[in-house]
Amino acid sequence: MTGNRKDDHVRYAVDQQRRSAACNDFDAVNFLHHALAGIDRDTVDLGVKTPVGHWPVPLYINAMTGGSDQTGRINRQLAVAARETGLPVASGSMSAYLRDPDLGATFRTLRDENPDGVVIANVNANATVDQARRAVDLLGADALQIHLNAVQEIVMPEGDRDFAAWPGRVERIVAGAGVPVIVKEVGFGLSRRTVARLRDLGVAAADVAGRGGTNFARIENDRRPRGDYAFVDGWGQSTACCLLDAAGAGGIFLLGSGGVRSPLDVARALALGAGAVGVAGRFLGVLTDRGTEALVAEIRAWLEALTGVMTVLGAASPADLHRCDLLLTGDVAEYCRARGID
Ligand code: FNR
Repeated sequence: MTGNRKDDHVRYAVDQQRRSAACNDFDAVNFLHHALAGIDRDTVDLGVKTPVGHWPVPLYINAMTGGSDQTGRINRQLAVAARETGLPVASGSMSAYLRDPDLGATFRTLRDENPDGVVIANVNANATVDQARRAVDLLGADALQIHLNAVQEIVMPEGDRDFAAWPGRVERIVAGAGVPVIVKEVGFGLSRRTVARLRDLGVAAADVAGRGGTNFARIENDRRPRGDYAFVDGWGQSTACCLLDAAGAGGIFLLGSGGVRSPLDVARALALGAGAVGVAGRFLGVLTDRGTEALVAEIRAWLEALTGVMTVLGAASPADLHRCDLLLTGDVAEYCRARGID
């Protein structure tokens, strides 16, 4: 059952990639070009300091899958791509393993194929401290993601309906997980209030995982068509808006993901305050349609292009991108006005 659901998620997410309209709020974030700002390419260093240690690149493969034969194969391919490019890689939700330890190998491959890389475990916000530790132990994980997916759950007939315990659960996992905890959305975004709450709960990093890419309300709706559910279109905040909003929370490391389509989007998210940038659907689409080697080539091309953008902008490090002049237009500019963001 879980296996089928995981296979469905992959199928519908890849379908969304193939059909998705090219536009999202990142298009409203433009760098102001200064023709004399450029630096020497060799002085650009993509490395970033994060609560999960030093990462060689400011890009990671975000949580997707595991729990069935097919998704185990995908995790193996993602692990190879991560190993070949130096990207950290996150597991999909490990609930299936926590229910049935026989499924462990479909997740464990992330570490087996990638022994020296950064690997991140993933549980839902109902997990106990013991379950969180089992997930971390299985992968020898460097960090743990907790996903907040109330919208997805409520759209699923068999999904959770009780969310009030989540803050307390997160706090207990932070205290007991034994590794840094990252809390993420799954494509509807984290508001400034949520990010501040996570900071106060002791969470190491918040991944805003905003709107603009994979849409889980639509995936769950499409799996059992029954008329569009209220959340299917337009719910949540875009990644660009979330990052602008979350900067006001302060005191917590920000990760940016959701709808990242290109190396330019990576640069935009970094400039908006993300310490590193996550990609899920776009990489899954490349992997599914063209295979592991193509994904490795794609990631290398992204890193090359990101380095080029930084060279032209005069940013020797990802953090330097924060200082670049940005021109915000359209819905993003409107959002900033409505939220009182300068
Ligand atoms: C996801 N995502 C996800 N997130 C999570 O925390 N646990 C999970 O199990 C999954 N499962 C999952 C399956 C598939 C097939 C996809 C494409 C995505 C959500 C993912 O990590 C990310 O937050 C969103 O997909 C938004 O990013 P993209 O896809 O727009 O880059």
